[in-house]
Amino acid sequence: PPLDEILNLHDFEAPKTVLTPKAWAYYSSASDDEITIRENRAAFQRVWFRPRILRDVTSVDWSTNILGCKSSLPVYISATALGKLGHPDGELNLTRAAAKHGIIQMIPTLASCSFDEIVDAAQPNQPLFLQLYVNKDREITKKYVQHAEKRGVRALFITVDAPQLGRREKDMRMKFVDDGAGAKVQEGQKDVKKDQGVARAISSFIDPSLSWKDIPWFRSITNMHIILKGVSTPEDAVLAYEAGCQGIVLSNHGGRQLDTARSGLENLIDIVAALKTKGPWPNPNFSVFVDGGVRRASDVLKAIALGASAVGIGRGFLYAFSSYGQEGVERAFDILRDEFEMNMRLLGARNIREVVPDMVDASALSAH
Ligand code: FNR
Repeated sequence: PPLDEILNLHDFEAPKTVLTPKAWAYYSSASDDEITIRENRAAFQRVWFRPRILRDVTSVDWSTNILGCKSSLPVYISATALGKLGHPDGELNLTRAAAKHGIIQMIPTLASCSFDEIVDAAQPNQPLFLQLYVNKDREITKKYVQHAEKRGVRALFITVDAPQLGRREKDMRMKFVDDGAGAKVQEGQKDVKKDQGVARAISSFIDPSLSWKDIPWFRSITNMHIILKGVSTPEDAVLAYEAGCQGIVLSNHGGRQLDTARSGLENLIDIVAALKTKGPWPNPNFSVFVDGGVRRASDVLKAIALGASAVGIGRGFLYAFSSYGQEGVERAFDILRDEFEMNMRLLGARNIREVVPDMVDASALSAH
């Protein structure tokens, strides 16, 4: 459909036909029985709003600050690998749209465009984050991280939920071909499995020996904020805090890793409660982010009410540029902005600080 008929982020997912079967298999797939990916959406539907009235909501402001960077929405673009499977300009669609709209992009280690191409496409002071898969050869990782810092990246999101990639069976049924359309093999990678889909072919460089002992090493090689992406329990949230990280992402990797892991939203209440026992709350030095299944501003507001600083979206933006390039991503930002305006007015919150726990009824989440 023409872009002006796209009215919400779900609509971008409908035109599956513009994606090649390989791209669709890689982007849409989740692990095993795909229970977690469905649960990511379902969890938001178990949280209800408790809107407040008569608060003069003439002017509402949904902008915020994410890890010291201004953001026009309480949303960032989460890292999704292999953008060129969906569109010839790949991740640059996101970089350019983010520049125009004041949104922060998290660059994936496995981007189809090179890291420098993406940074070069950004505006001079455009904030960027970097998602890191840690290489078995730590010298490669060290060079990569220090290069990113030198190029002005503001925060390092170390992915900790993928010591091995999940079995995404839709993707595994596709054979890997190094056809230049995005999928590329990383430096230091020896055993390329070509008969088990795109994800497995490109991921064997990831180091499964990564442990809590490595966090001080990361601290010693960079001054960037260090965020652990893929935390699911209060125990690990507290360990991350005590290890001196600047934040965590409650994420199950969009349902692509451990199937029947709970949703980030579902884990949020317990994790915030645990962190409150360790330090001030909200904690200016420790941020909690959530991703997975976010498609509406109302989803974002629920996570913020329950304690998240901001929320990541992966597939929503990925499908937007796959079908419509940069304009699609810009349309997605405009739609979200419109949804924030309406939802915040109807909720009685004039700014993000006014989105408080009392504005939701989360009693149907199992953490209660
Ligand atoms: C991802 N995600 C991801 N995460 C990561 O840390 N490194 C990566 O390379 C990728 N690659 C990737 C590819 C694709 C196609 C998808 C859909 C996802 C996970 C991503 O950052 C985020 O956690 C989820 O996408 C959030 O869920 P939604 O918004 O897609 O529902």
